[in-house]
Amino acid sequence: MYVCICNAIRETDLRAEARRCGDDAEAIYISLGRPPQCRQCLEDATEILNEERTAKKLPVCALN
Ligand code: FES
Repeated sequence: MYVCICNAIRETDLRAEARRCGDDAEAIYISLGRPPQCRQCLEDATEILNEERTAKKLPVCALN
């Protein structure tokens, strides 16, 4: 799913970047070479980044 229509940035792109670095949405867009344009997506992008970073901190259950 595209989060940013202006820059064709997908949710999977944002989740991968969230796991790689601690930058905010705008900084990530810039690092991808696609700076924000209309900026309407930044709130949703921030939510996705926070969600992914929170999930990363949760303990992983061991499977036997
Ligand atoms: S939809 Fe992301 S900058 Fe416009």
